[in-house]
Amino acid sequence: MKFESFSPKQLSAMLWWSLPEYKDHDAIVCDGSVRSGKTMAMSIGFVMWSMKTFDNETFAFCGKTIDSLKRNVITPLQKWLGGIIQPKINLSKNYMDISWLGHQNRYYFFGGKDESSYALIQGMTLAGVLLDEVALMPKSFVDQAVARCSVSGSRMWFNCNPDGSEEHWFYKDWIDDVNGNADKKNRLHLHFTMKDNYALSDAVRERYERLYTGAFYERYILGLWRAVEGIVYPMFSREHHVIPDKVPSIGEGEYYLSCDYGTLNPTAIGLWHLSPHGYAIKVREYYYDARKKGMSRTDEEHYAQLEKLAGKLAPFVRAVIVDPSAASFIETIRRHAKFRVWHADNSVLDGIRDTATLLELGRLRFCACCEDTIREFGLYRWDEKNSKDAPIKENDHAMDETRYFVRTAMKRTLKQIARELEVSAV
Ligand SMILES: Nc1ncnc2c1ncn2[C@@H]1O[C@H](COP(=O)(O)OP(=O)(O)OP(=O)(O)O)[C@@H](O)[C@H]1O
Ligand SMILES: [Mg+2]
Repeated sequence: MKFESFSPKQLSAMLWWSLPEYKDHDAIVCDGSVRSGKTMAMSIGFVMWSMKTFDNETFAFCGKTIDSLKRNVITPLQKWLGGIIQPKINLSKNYMDISWLGHQNRYYFFGGKDESSYALIQGMTLAGVLLDEVALMPKSFVDQAVARCSVSGSRMWFNCNPDGSEEHWFYKDWIDDVNGNADKKNRLHLHFTMKDNYALSDAVRERYERLYTGAFYERYILGLWRAVEGIVYPMFSREHHVIPDKVPSIGEGEYYLSCDYGTLNPTAIGLWHLSPHGYAIKVREYYYDARKKGMSRTDEEHYAQLEKLAGKLAPFVRAVIVDPSAASFIETIRRHAKFRVWHADNSVLDGIRDTATLLELGRLRFCACCEDTIREFGLYRWDEKNSKDAPIKENDHAMDETRYFVRTAMKRTLKQIARELEVSAV
């Protein structure tokens, strides 16, 4: 790969351990914006420090999951070390050995969210840990990893994007007042922004900036610890996202139905069209609020409405996407043997983030007849009393059905968008 010169911030994250002013420091925390060069600088620095300082010791590289660690850290690390240091990686056993300067050390791989990792790390004695994306790991795992660092001279290396407000446990334990508070004075805190990555062009930086608004802009672009507040989709506007009613022609792209099923709560179903280029339109909707109407509908009645919504397009519907918890409704759809059922990916925050990205990019539009969807976009809010990111569970039925569709039918589009940004980033 082509190296741009390292920025001063990257050099500090890489070489802090060799500087006299930090000789008593036992930890470094790099937080800040996405793509700012934290992982690269720290991983190279971690290997250099451990190899120069120790021989025959054990270290840990930790990511959110082992798979994400291998993908985002271990595989690129081989390129980053540029052939000067050649790790011998044992991918199936989750470790690598490195020999350099007459020293040899072993580095185990762990995933903070993988249960097997928690059990394994408990028994280890480590001379250092690097925790990549640490704010996404459970506190119990991080505490355990830190407690394992009992070799004299061991150091802890942390990096992350902000994943919440200043109430987040990692912010409170490891960042808050790090450079002032007496008991935290042995930690170095570096705040990164995209300008600290010289390999990122202005054009790519601007593309990332356009992807986020509100608290997510503050977190991912400015790198600040901020609570989510206000409406969930502030980027939604009638002007940009609502189009006159129309049905895209059959033969171009795919149709889907996506359902959020409720008995007392409303049931929302959307008929979606997805173009071959990854642009989606909610063509029409069914929204039944049993409480408002004073009468609930049976699964068969909802199903009849689902068929009606598909109308003449029924033979062209690729799948009905349904929340996996709606077992009885899934059974009803299956019994009629007219549509294939796909279980919806129901990860709430990932779904909201992806839906927001697609709205920002103008990839999602709604026909004017989808009035309940348009209404909910104006009402769907974050729960500001909750210390974790969570939307209020009201006015969220068309919103849930929309994110089911995004996460389940638009996977390929989302991957493509991520790849395009990745390719242009370096
Ligand atoms: N000095 C450099 N020379 C060449 N490429 C670089 C340099 N610094 C960073 N990069 C590249 O920029 C991209 C982003 O860097 P990196 O993954 O380290 O950022 P990050 O801050 O960890 O991002 P995220 O918060 O999204 O995980 C990577 O593809 C990396 O290889
Ligand atoms: Mg990173």
